[in-house]
Amino acid sequence: MSVLKISGGRELRGTARVHGAKNSVLPIIAASLLANGETVLHNCPKLSDVDAAIKILRHLGCSAERAGNEVIIDSRGLSRLDIPHGLMREMRSSVIFLGAMLARGGEAELSLPGGCELGPRPIDLHLGALRELGAEITEEGGSIICRAAKLWGRRVNLSFPSVGATENTMLAASLADGTTIITNAAREPEIWDLQCYLRALGVAVYGAGTPTVTVEGTKISASVSHSVIPDRIVAATYLAAAAATRSEIELTDVIPAHLSTVIEVLGEMGCDIRVERERIRVSSDGKLRAVRPIITGPYPGFPTDAQPQLMAAALKARGTTAFVENIFDNRYRHVGEMRRLGADIKLEGRVAMVTGARKLHGAPVTATDLRGGAALVVAALGAEGVTEISGVHHIDRGYDGLEDTLRAVGAKIERV
Ligand code: EPZ
Repeated sequence: MSVLKISGGRELRGTARVHGAKNSVLPIIAASLLANGETVLHNCPKLSDVDAAIKILRHLGCSAERAGNEVIIDSRGLSRLDIPHGLMREMRSSVIFLGAMLARGGEAELSLPGGCELGPRPIDLHLGALRELGAEITEEGGSIICRAAKLWGRRVNLSFPSVGATENTMLAASLADGTTIITNAAREPEIWDLQCYLRALGVAVYGAGTPTVTVEGTKISASVSHSVIPDRIVAATYLAAAAATRSEIELTDVIPAHLSTVIEVLGEMGCDIRVERERIRVSSDGKLRAVRPIITGPYPGFPTDAQPQLMAAALKARGTTAFVENIFDNRYRHVGEMRRLGADIKLEGRVAMVTGARKLHGAPVTATDLRGGAALVVAALGAEGVTEISGVHHIDRGYDGLEDTLRAVGAKIERV
């Protein structure tokens, strides 16, 4: 198993391009089942989660090929409507295929996505929404089986603005008979990107980015191309790396508005951040100050996916910064690993109290999950000495060429 070896304490200078968004490309790959035609996806990051989604498409009978940063999909060959346990285990967010399989084929079977590193990952909101649209859903031997000879446009209220449940409902509604109105919908930018793709397929869908999304069901047979939006969490990760070191970094191909809460917090910590159209310039002397509590919440609140990385930056901030993680039950697994670098972090339920500006020293650590692993990279860059990070497969799920990008701005980092 490979390890990332990082020699911290170095200055970072230069340009970092932000690649396409994992959490946008995955639901759009699922949505390509609805096309019943060819989809060309541009700006598609090379991630193990994308590879897993491509494997699922091929299992279902579709063709899917990667050509550089493009993925070409043809879903005319759809011939199966089940996702076996092995493929579900590879990527728990495979539940995002449920709505599209059901809408296109009238049934869908997938093994229950067990927990993951972040704690239990229930799908009750997904299933409740699909039942509302007319699906009959049963659970048998660890699998869920959905059937719907026809789906009907309905009003669907989500008790929590779940990203995945919003996406699954949008996909099922796209082929339903009538109009679906989703209230308390998630407002993340990835919902907006999915709306753009569905519109390209000819679906009348609007309201993405607001709490109410409306989808007019229709018949689809289309071949389209779509360029995936930049990954706001990867951008936040690069900004946190700049904050934790002496740095002058420019991010390109980024949408600053998608990470405004992260930019605001890093500015308060003492970074100098300048935003232009699709660029963000950040400079830091690596000496930061503690800020008001960082409280995660549904978009446009502070993104849970950037909490670990901002905690790594807070290790360099004089004073104590409080973090409150409201989205996932178990998203502090990186704390134990950060303590091995010398971090002073006290945990109390959903609250983490981080007292920074202590000398951090390199040590062997283990990535516990995707964003926790990325946070350890940030912490290692800001620590004196050598850190070896194992469990790199977690990081490869959501970062395309992280070590190459960081090395290009002066980091001493190699995969061994
Ligand atoms: C998406 O996950 C992202 N994944 C996550 O990113 C992200 O953290 C999350 O949204 C929140 O922004 C993808 O888009 C592939 P949710 P998702 O449904 O859809 C509970 C990363 O690091 N819930 O909004 O699974 C759930 O347990 C990943 O890139 C239910 O209770 O998130 C969680 O506590 C991690 N019942 C909360 O809602 C349900 O039916 C938010 O989940 C569904 C969710």
